[in-house]
Formats: sequence, C-alpha cells, structure tokens
Amino acid sequence: MQWRKHSAELADQCEAGDADVQVQFGKKEEGHRQALRTLRSLEDRCNRILRNMEASLTARDRVGIQDFVLLDPYTSESAFLDNLRKRFHENLIYTYIGTLLVSVNPYKDLGIYSKKQMDTYMGVNFFELPPHIYALADNVFRTMLSEFNNHFILISGESGSGKTEASKKILQFYAVSCPSTRLLNNVGDRLLLSNPVLEAFGNAKTLKNDNSSRFGKYMDIQFDYRGEAVGGHILSYLLEKSRVVHQNHGERNFHIFYQLVEGGEEDLLRWLGLERNCKNYRYLVQGDCAKVSSINDKGDWKTVRKALSVIDFSESDTEHLFAIIASVLHLGNLKFEADARGYATVKNYQELHWVSKLLGISNQVLQQGLTHRKIEAKTEEVLSPFSVEHAVYARDALAKAIYGRTFNWLVNKINESLANQDSSRKMVIGLLDIYGFEVFSVNSFEQFCINYCNEKLQQLFIQLTLKSEQEEYELEGIEDEECLRPGEATDLTFLEKMEEKIGGHPHFVTHKLADKNTRKTLERGDFRLLHYAGEVTYCVVGFLDKNNDLLYRSGKEVMQHSKNAIIKHCFPSSEPDSKKRPETVVTQFKSSLVGLTEILMSKEPWYVRCIKPNEAKQPAKFDDVLVRHQIKYLGLMEHLRVRRAGFAYRRRYEIFLQRYKALCPDTWPNWKGTPEEGVRCLIKHLGYKTDEYKFGRTKIFIRHPRTLFATEDAFQVCKHQLATRIQAKYKGWRVKEDYLRQKEAATKIENCWRGLMARKERERRAWAVKVIKKFIKGFMTRNQPACIDNSEYLAYVRQNYLTRLKENLPKTVLEMDSWLTPPPILKEVSELLQNIYIRYLVRQFVREITPQRKAQLLLKAQTSSLFKGKKESYPFSVCRPFVDTRIALEDINLKVRQTIQHEHIKYSVPVVKYDRNGFRPRLRQLIFTQEAAYLVEETKIKQRIDYSSLKGVSVSNLSDNFFILHVTCDDIKQKGDLVLQCDYLYEALTKLSVVGDKHSCVKVVQGSVRFDIQPGREGFVEFKSGQESMVYRAKNGHLMVESTRTKSR
Ligand SMILES: Nc1ncnc2c1ncn2[C@@H]1O[C@H](COP(=O)(O)OP(=O)(O)OP(=O)(O)O)[C@@H](O)[C@H]1O
Ligand SMILES: [Mg+2]
Repeated sequence: MQWRKHSAELADQCEAGDADVQVQFGKKEEGHRQALRTLRSLEDRCNRILRNMEASLTARDRVGIQDFVLLDPYTSESAFLDNLRKRFHENLIYTYIGTLLVSVNPYKDLGIYSKKQMDTYMGVNFFELPPHIYALADNVFRTMLSEFNNHFILISGESGSGKTEASKKILQFYAVSCPSTRLLNNVGDRLLLSNPVLEAFGNAKTLKNDNSSRFGKYMDIQFDYRGEAVGGHILSYLLEKSRVVHQNHGERNFHIFYQLVEGGEEDLLRWLGLERNCKNYRYLVQGDCAKVSSINDKGDWKTVRKALSVIDFSESDTEHLFAIIASVLHLGNLKFEADARGYATVKNYQELHWVSKLLGISNQVLQQGLTHRKIEAKTEEVLSPFSVEHAVYARDALAKAIYGRTFNWLVNKINESLANQDSSRKMVIGLLDIYGFEVFSVNSFEQFCINYCNEKLQQLFIQLTLKSEQEEYELEGIEDEECLRPGEATDLTFLEKMEEKIGGHPHFVTHKLADKNTRKTLERGDFRLLHYAGEVTYCVVGFLDKNNDLLYRSGKEVMQHSKNAIIKHCFPSSEPDSKKRPETVVTQFKSSLVGLTEILMSKEPWYVRCIKPNEAKQPAKFDDVLVRHQIKYLGLMEHLRVRRAGFAYRRRYEIFLQRYKALCPDTWPNWKGTPEEGVRCLIKHLGYKTDEYKFGRTKIFIRHPRTLFATEDAFQVCKHQLATRIQAKYKGWRVKEDYLRQKEAATKIENCWRGLMARKERERRAWAVKVIKKFIKGFMTRNQPACIDNSEYLAYVRQNYLTRLKENLPKTVLEMDSWLTPPPILKEVSELLQNIYIRYLVRQFVREITPQRKAQLLLKAQTSSLFKGKKESYPFSVCRPFVDTRIALEDINLKVRQTIQHEHIKYSVPVVKYDRNGFRPRLRQLIFTQEAAYLVEETKIKQRIDYSSLKGVSVSNLSDNFFILHVTCDDIKQKGDLVLQCDYLYEALTKLSVVGDKHSCVKVVQGSVRFDIQPGREGFVEFKSGQESMVYRAKNGHLMVESTRTKSR
C-alpha cells in the first residue's frame, strides 16, 4: 500500500521535535496508528499531508520548521530569524508559534489563495497542513462553532507588512467556506464589498505602502448557531485626517480623491466643477506623486461605484458624498489675501462658489465663516476677523473635519447595511487590522497614539494569555488631560507638566530627567518611553495642536447651514451650543480603545503577526536587520517564550470534559460528578504524565501542544466510531418505525379488503339464492305455457339442450340412435334438426364418394334390391367389396379369349359346376360378355348362354352359395340349366343382372328348385339348413344342399 510506505518513511524521518508529525506517526502511538490505518478518511488526510507538507520533513534544513514552538534554542533571536528566512526563500511565508500565525509579506502572488486551497484547509485539524492564514481562519471558525463563544483575530504589524491583505483573505475564506444561504451571500458580499469603499476613503499611498490603511479597523462578523454569517459591524479608529491637507513627499492623499478625478464620468466632473487633472488641486500635489504605477485609480473608481450600490447607498447618498469630496478639493484651492487692515479675504471666488454650491451653503455665510471667528463677549457674540495665516489654518481644519466626519458617516452607513436583522444570540469573530508598533527616527503624536494602542493590545494579550506576568507589563499612566488642554499651553509646557506628573516613573525619561549618558541621546523637546517592545523617543513638537484638532466654532456653524444631507448629519446643530471644549484626539482615542479592550476582553484571542521583509516592497528580498527589528517590536520572542514556558493550552473543565468525554468509558456518555473530577478521570484514562498538565481552579492546563493533539486526534477517530453507533441506532429506530407503520397500514388494508370481499360474497350469495329460486320455480312450471316464471328456465333448457346437442352430435348416419333425447318443449325442434342433420351428413357423405365407389355402391344397391331380406347370407355380403373381375384376363385361356373377345369380357369368376346327371362338381370359369354368359373348362367353351335365352336365375333363401341359371331350351341337343356354386355369389349375380340386364329374373326360392336337365327332363335341387354345410345326391335323385344357419345380425 502506497500510503503505508509513505507513512513508514515519514515515521523514520520524524524527529523528536516534530510534535505534530509525531502525534500522527510516532512509533509509540501504535494504537493510534492502527486507528489511522483503519479509517480511510484519515488515510486521505495523510496523503494530503504528505503532498502538502512542504517537504518539511525531508528537507527540514532547507525549509525550516513550521512551528516555532519546535525551535530548539527557542530563546535565540538568530535561530528565529534563520528559520523565518529559510522559509521565506522557499516561498513559505507562514509559520506558527503555537496558534499564533507569523506571516511575511511575499510582495508577489504565490497562488495560495485559490478556492481549492480553501477547500483543502476547510475542516482540517490546525496542525495537519502547512501553516496558512486559512488554517487559522478555519480553526477559529470551528472553535467558535464547537464552543459556542466569541473570538477575535488580532492582525498586527508594520505598515506594508500585509495586515489588510491578511484580513481580506480571512474574510474571503469565510465568505466562501461558511454554509451558504441567500442571506449569507448578501452579508458576505457586503462584507467583502465594504472593503474597497473603506480602502478608497481610508487608504492612501505612503512611502511604506502603496495601499496603506490610514485608520484602524475592527470588524465583527456575526454568525448564527449554524455558522452562517448573518451580520457585520465595523469600528474605525483614528483616521489620519491630517493627510487631507498635507502629504509628505512621495505620498498621496486618500485614494478617493484621485479616483474621482481620474475615473469620474464627464457629467459628474462637470457637475462637481472638477477638471480631470490632479495637478490642479493643491491638496493632491504636495507629495508630488499623483500618479503611481501600482495603482489603477480608474479601475478602482468603477469598483467603488459598484460596491456603493450593493451596500445600500442611494443615488442621493452617492451624489452628496462626491459633492463633499469635490468640495474638499475646491476648499484646498481657496486662497486668501490680506486686505488693507491685514485681515484675510477670499481671493478666488470661483472656488468659493463651487464649495458653496456643492455643500449647499450660501456664498456669504461660507465666506464669513472662513474669514472670521465668533467670540463670545459677555452677553453677545462678536465676529473677529482672521489673519491670512489663521484663515488658511481654519480652512484646513474645516477640510479635515469635513472629511473626517464624512468618513465616520460612511462607516456608519456601511454598518447599517451589514446590520443583522435577527436579534437572537450570535457568535462573533472579530478582525482587528490595526497599525503595528512604529518607531521612526522622529516620532510624533501619531506614533505616540499608535504605540499607545499597541501597548494596550499587548497588555490585553498578556491579560488573556499569561496572567502571572501581568504586573510586569502594566501600562505606564501617561496622559493627563489637564496638560493636553490648549490655551496658554505649548508643546514644551506640556513636556514640563509631564515631567512634573510622571517624572518618577522608571519607564519615562526626558532630557531634563535623564542621566548624563542618556541625555546625549535626547533633544530638549523629546521624551522617551520604555514600551513593552522597547524604547521610543518622541518629539513633542506639534503634539498639542494635533491633539486639539481644533475646528473653530464659526466653521462648524457654517456647516450647519449646509443643504448636503451628509454634512448636515455630520454637523448636528446641537453641537456648538455646548460650551464645553470638544474632546481631544487622545481622549477620544483612549476611550475608543477602552471600548475596544472591552470588546476584545470578552472574546478568545487569535493572533496574526505580519512582517515586512524589506523596505523596497520587493519580492524575494529578506532584510535581516529590518525583520529582526520587527520580531522585536511584534513581541514574537516573548510570545514564543510564553508558549514554551507556560501552558500551551487551557480550557475550562466543563468544556474540556464535554469535548473529550467520549474517550473514556467512565465519562461517557455522562459524568455524574463535578467537571474537574471528570477531567481527572479522563486524563488518567488517557495516560497523561504528571508534568504534562496542571489543574487550575476552573481550568485544566496542558503544557505541550502534542499532548493535546494526541487527545484531539484520538477524539477524531472516536468521533467516527460514535457517529457510526449513533447512526446505527438511529437507522434501527427508523427502520423499526417504518416497519410498525407498514404493519399497521397492512392490517388496515387487509381489513378493508376482507370487508370488501365479504360484501361481494354476500351479494353473490343473494344473487345465487335468487337465481336458484327462479330456477326451481321455472323447473316446477316447465310444462306450463311460457310465462314469467318459466321463461328463463325454458330459455336455459333450450340453450342447455342445444349446447349439449352441439357437443354430442352423432358422427355418422348410422349412429343416429345416439341423438340426444330432447326435453318436451324441444321435441319438434329436435326432429327438424335431426332431419336437417341427417341430410347434412348424407350430403357430406355423398360429396366424399369417388366415381369408383359410386359404381360399387350402385352395384351394391342392385344386390340389395335383389337379395335384401330374401337370402339369409345377404347381410354378410354387404361389407365385402365387389371387384371388377375374379379371374385376370391372362388366366383365361387364349383360345377362349380369342373366341369371345369381340363380345367384350365384362366379368369372370371361378365356379363349381354340378353335372346335371350325377351332380359331380367340376371347376369351371364363368365369363360374362356383353352378349352372353360362358362356362369354360380350360380351353373349351362348355356352354354359351345368350342373355336372351336366360330365362331366370334361382337362388335359395338360405346361406348356401348355389345358383341355377335357367335357359330356354328348345332344342334337345342343347344343354339344359346350369347348377353352379360360387364363392362370390352376390357379386357374380349382381354383375350378371347388370351386364345381361336381368334384374327381374333373379328369384329367391324356398325349399327346392326345379331345373331342366335337358328339354323335357327335369331335376331338383333341394335346399335346407343343417348342422354343417354339405352337398350330396339324395336318394330321390335330388341334389341336396345343406347349409349352416347363419345368425342374422
Ligand atoms: N499575502 C500576500 N501576498 C502577496 N502580496 C501581499 C500579501 N500581503 C501583502 N502583500 C502586498 O503588500 C502590500 C501591502 O499590504 P497591506 O496593505 O496589507 O499592508 P498593511 O499591513 O495593511 O499596511 P498598512 O499598515 O500600511 O495598512 C499589498 O498591497 C500587497 O501588494
Ligand atoms: Mg492596511
């Protein structure tokens, strides 16, 4: 088996450090391996691992390890860096530290974010496949589903390290992999589409990143219990508003300005009073790089327009939005000049006009607002004119305020479109894409805020992961609202105040407070903080101003006159009435971070740390110094230390027990005692070694990930077995239910069927009774004339008789006796039918008779007319067929033949002739010709009897075969009558009667026959019946012929 071979190889290559591999293939895990073999799904999975495991096992030296937890000198920054570099050069940009994902920006398309990749990572154990952002996303999602709680993924790193890209990849993964419904697609689409809009308004090209997010973003994705995305919410932090009015060299303003000018439709630009040339706008050209090759403003414009329509922006919303963007550009071009008194007046009214048109504020009001400020003097308000410098400051402040507030409005608007309609309990995955710790050569207010934010998040991380070290990482209390107030304060007085307030803190140092050596590294206006990630020196110049973000009241009031719906919404009229000073930037930021901390505290944390490999934004370039720096500021070594030192995994007893209780027979299916006891019992059963875990008050702590992985894998195996059992039970139950239902149905059907059959039977019987009654009545009245009572019976009798008759007709006329006896009513009919039938049979018979047979029958009929009822032996002759002759022609002597031939021989037969005198018998031939009968003895014709002289023929009535031919005898010389005996008496005599036409001369006599011996001399033949046939001469000289009596038929 191929797989087995691979797994064996793998096991050999597997070394002690490879925790994830060891769990799956370790030699000790024999039972586990057994289970793996038996489960095909796991086999597939292993194949996948083999394919995908970046050959990390066969070439570990080259591609490094995929989890830093397995790094050997885990405290060595160099080893860490080496591993990261090795992997980076193999295009392996992801590496784990436990469940934390380190991602190095490849600056090229690696082709690892396809749908196929997503499928590969979906539902797979975290450590089974090579590290990937999808693995993390999937793990978070599944943990959320199984534990039913909230999570957040903190993505941090320097500008350009790939945070935003990472957050987009996670979002795409969820949009593709979550169970899909119409709603999801809607929310998913909106979440995805909100990105280009937010990026257009909140991202800009900086020196570090062509698409740098200039705001912090926290995005909530809400899921229901099935894991369907049902809503979203975005929080934005600290938009870098100053960029609206000022950009460093090589940087740009927010993308949206360039997109509008480059991509905006002609009509739109005309309506906005804009020209298609960025160079014409002061706010767009300070960085001197309006066009950047990596940015396609025109194409992005289209994407943004499309996205706006999908996320519920109405036509008028979009119009107003673009009007604001354009008005900011016009505002930027507004110039002032000093009048005679040195007060500022607007120089180019054209621009003023456009701003007033686009924001729907009257020229006059706008102009006044831009050149004067209101001062409250006791009871009245006085307008105080600006100097030109002041006016420019106020203008820029207004532009920043407009843009900043519009950005907030935009985020809120997107939130409305993402809002979840259903109020039932949701689970949440938060995505925090926030600026990483920043250290430049000169660090200002922005870095201060950003690093403060990172400090907060680090604190949170500490709180969430390693409480024992919490104190060590306590945040320095830095800000003091008092000293941030404007007024007489300057940046330097602010520094002094700080020294006064927190000067004693060990993590805070200024030029004044520093010792001699440190002082050399600090300017007068600098202060230095020791952050969790190291020291940072800040320059206080501009701190107060940036913090105040002052917008003169008059400017606000002017905006309240706006007819632009968005501006109106952003500058509510209630605001300037409050005499209180507006909250400073830091105060706002701080409170929003407190809010964020609260949000995050209630969730399970996951981390993605992004690293930028080089400053040149180039692929395949790994700058050791730069990366080492980031490893430090991202706190990766620390994280690794925590992972290795502490416990890799902790879970509340009830959660742990709930998940793994199936692995121990005592805890499955239900544990009766406390969860802690249950867990104790469970891990005892699993054979955990004592140093591998610890029991907390509410949680179990597991030191090594591999211990957990082994448990988890065992659970995966066990889960299948449990599922099979549950499935079997369920199937059994369902089949039984089905069976019972079918049985019930069968009984019902059977009952109905039986009922139906019984009713039919009853009907049939009732019908039968009626029929039988009628039959009997008919029978009883059968002899009466036809009436209602007997008509049917008679019809039946008729039909019955006729049917029977049809089946029993006699085959021949001779069997007519078998004709069925008819019932009385059919007597006449029967007779008629019989006659018809006889005629029919006769006709049939006659039709079949051949001419030969006809001739024969005619002869037989002749015989019949001669002898029937007269001679005793006649009946026996009927069945003996006649033949044409009894002596063949050639048997007649030739001479005789020649003599009589001319007369045509018709018939010849052998006979015995009795002498007339002595009655001696002599054998002779009797031949009939046309003319006469001849008696022939061999060659001699003994006697010729002309038919005309044949007087008659006599035969007895008995069964002898004698006959006497009587001839006319006039001449004495003539021979007398002939006494002959012939075996074929009937045939011969019939022939004679026909040939000689002697029908009437054949006589049947009784007793004796007289014959002429010769004329005048007579003889007698006497016939009688006796015991036996005999012929003899009696004493009286008569010829006695005795014949046996034949029984008549
Ligand atoms: N996984 C990746 N694959 C390919 N290219 C990437 C990846 N991640 C980042 N990049 C490239 O790096 C650029 C910068 O990434 P991104 O905008 O995500 O950085 P960032 O960390 O959000 O920076 P900032 O803090 O400035 O917003 C992207 O525009 C892209 O070109
Ligand atoms: Mg970004």
